[in-house]
Amino acid sequence: MTQNVTQTTKKRILTGDRPTGPMHIGHYVGSLENRVRLQGEYDCFFIVADYQFLTDHLKETDRTEYNIKQVILDWLSVGMDSTKSTFFIQSMVPEIAELTMYFSMLVTVARLHRNPTVKEEFKASGLHAMSYGFLGYPVSQAADILIVRSNLVPVGEDNLAHVEQTREIARTFNRTFKEVFPVPEALIGKVPRLPGIDGKKMGNSMDNAIYLGDAPEEVRRKVSAAITDPARIRATDKGHPDICNIYQYHLAYNKEESPDVARLCQQGKIGCVACKQNLAAKINAFLEPIRERRAFFETRPSIIGEAIREGNERTSQEGKRTIGLVREAMHFDYKELVGVSQAVGTMRSEL
Ligand code: TRP
Repeated sequence: MTQNVTQTTKKRILTGDRPTGPMHIGHYVGSLENRVRLQGEYDCFFIVADYQFLTDHLKETDRTEYNIKQVILDWLSVGMDSTKSTFFIQSMVPEIAELTMYFSMLVTVARLHRNPTVKEEFKASGLHAMSYGFLGYPVSQAADILIVRSNLVPVGEDNLAHVEQTREIARTFNRTFKEVFPVPEALIGKVPRLPGIDGKKMGNSMDNAIYLGDAPEEVRRKVSAAITDPARIRATDKGHPDICNIYQYHLAYNKEESPDVARLCQQGKIGCVACKQNLAAKINAFLEPIRERRAFFETRPSIIGEAIREGNERTSQEGKRTIGLVREAMHFDYKELVGVSQAVGTMRSEL
């Protein structure tokens, strides 16, 4: 197997997304931006987490394939590069499921019940009972991260609890068996949680998100409908940027002008309509190159297919290496029982 030196000495990133629908401008400042920025510096693995999609979308599996394609188009359109980084699909790398099995023994049920993100998502899901897979998905996420022995995990704030769980699992494994895993760090984006245009959590099911693929008029329509400082009625009233939803967007997408925006608003010298028009223009300017790249990749589906095939293969190879180390550390390689070449069967591709 040929692998160049820089690739093997670089530290690793693993992060990714559920294929629940198109990605929005909150995802960009929360995590996508960091991925693009760190792509040259780290050996990056990006996962489309289709098992996780099952936790609260079990009745919509007919949409999974379409959604996966949309996620990958979003990735490519923001500048995540499948020729530099490894794109793969969770369910197509079976070593992840195998690692999940071992990890599931290292976590208590009580610990899983304490995960605040799982609780929040269950509430939002509208389901009346939680499946074993829903409760346990943070264990599977730990396997996503550790299957390639990742060092850094760029995520939005809502995934911090999962990275913490992953760190605990890595430490427990290393202490119980042998030092196999790094204890990965989370990396949060410059705006950890951009609110939706209604001021609530920005999300696909809430009809309050500005999508990376939105057309210019759609962006203008959404921004003009967004809620602002509720105490402000006339344009000349003094505003309160600190409690204004739209000001959060200026901080994220119009950073340079944001001190002026805040001052003029506080003095009642700029009305919400003008302030929003300015913001929509800034968001549209930001989205323009993203739209162009999307249009390019939309007409070239073979690039996506190839990226996934190669990415699955590379992740699986790395996964086999990790599983080999895990089985050896756990005395689960059964060398005497079945003979060396069989016992290291999961690593056979390297022989
Ligand atoms: N939980 C992430 C989300 O909310 C998706 C995900 C799955 C993930 N596996 C991961 C993120 C591993 C970071 C690392 O979209």
